[in-house]
Amino acid sequence: MLSNLEQQPADALLALIKLHGEDPRADKIDLGVGVYRTGQGATPVFGAIKAAEQKLVDTQDSKSYLGPEGDMGFVHALMPYIFGQDDPAKGGRIEGMQTPGGTGAVRLTVALAKRAGVGRIIMGLPSWPNHAQILGDLAVELVSFKHAGTDGKVDMDALRAAISGGQSGDAIMLHGCCHNPTGIDYSNAQWDEIAALIAAKGLLPILDLAYQGLGAGLEEDAYGVRKVLDAVPEALIAYSCDKNFGMYRDRVGAIYVMAENSEVLGRVLTNGFALARAAWSMPPDHGGAAVRLILEDPGLTAMWLDELDTMRTRISQVRAKLAAAGQAGSIDLTPLGHQNGLFSVLPLSSEQIQTLRSDHGIYMAGSGRVNIAGLTAGNIDKFIADLAVVSG
Ligand code: LMR
Repeated sequence: MLSNLEQQPADALLALIKLHGEDPRADKIDLGVGVYRTGQGATPVFGAIKAAEQKLVDTQDSKSYLGPEGDMGFVHALMPYIFGQDDPAKGGRIEGMQTPGGTGAVRLTVALAKRAGVGRIIMGLPSWPNHAQILGDLAVELVSFKHAGTDGKVDMDALRAAISGGQSGDAIMLHGCCHNPTGIDYSNAQWDEIAALIAAKGLLPILDLAYQGLGAGLEEDAYGVRKVLDAVPEALIAYSCDKNFGMYRDRVGAIYVMAENSEVLGRVLTNGFALARAAWSMPPDHGGAAVRLILEDPGLTAMWLDELDTMRTRISQVRAKLAAAGQAGSIDLTPLGHQNGLFSVLPLSSEQIQTLRSDHGIYMAGSGRVNIAGLTAGNIDKFIADLAVVSG
């Protein structure tokens, strides 16, 4: 039977990690997978995480099973940051469960939506490639629209048309902040309009918040999610701590459900538990427990917020430097200055992307997505110069 399986290509983004690792050139630049890097090019463990992990080692007295919901202290501790200090559970209408990373959370939102009868999910493209893979794997139809125009701005007309073409039983997937891959986010005024349009059409919102704190700030980055939740009766939210706590390989995430009342909420969650049990039984504990220990301790929380602030500041400094460079060959870098988060997309052809890799040791996704945090004082001039040569 197994020989019936066809060869599959490696995941293009994850394969880049390996390709870059094997490149012997000393001046190679990794702008591939989305991890934060310091000005020295490192992705260190947060100081707050190290301290929390130490506390965990010293105090944890059992590794016995939890339930499919994982560490509910972790799930609840995040809620004021996502939904606001003022009634984060919206009078008992929001509850969550821990998931293996943001990917586990997205998968569970789609699986739950499907169980609830959703057959189609409206989503702007380009998007994080794994979104479409998850939809495909769960046999949910993707109804796409253009996220942004060539002018580097959100294509609101395309979004309006997509929402207005929605049918009963459709969901819509939106990036909460730091759009992956474009870095082109909705303004607050656009979120106000989107929230009203989704509510009027009766679509189920699925909100993916994977980079909170890496855009304009923790509170600012939650504007869209909160606005949509204020407008609609029900929603699903996928949350990742993999970037804003630097927990990537520890897989720390959560799904939150907002339902019209606590009775429906309870029922939805039992479906989440059943789906989790059948997929991964329960999420890995360590990372979630470390995040909980940070959020339970004001000193560690302050340390984490400070580290997050340093990341955000560095990302915006690199963006400012790119924007100040203006033109690199045929590429206009100025829009990168007002985009958000780790990523932007450069309008390069596949050949140009390949030449940057083979001739200049510059690694980026095949879509032209660059991880801004891969640029440092030591390599940004080379990057701009090589970009100018290749894009001519
Ligand atoms: C990325 O987009 O680079 C990250 O979200 C990592 C991943 O899992 O794809």
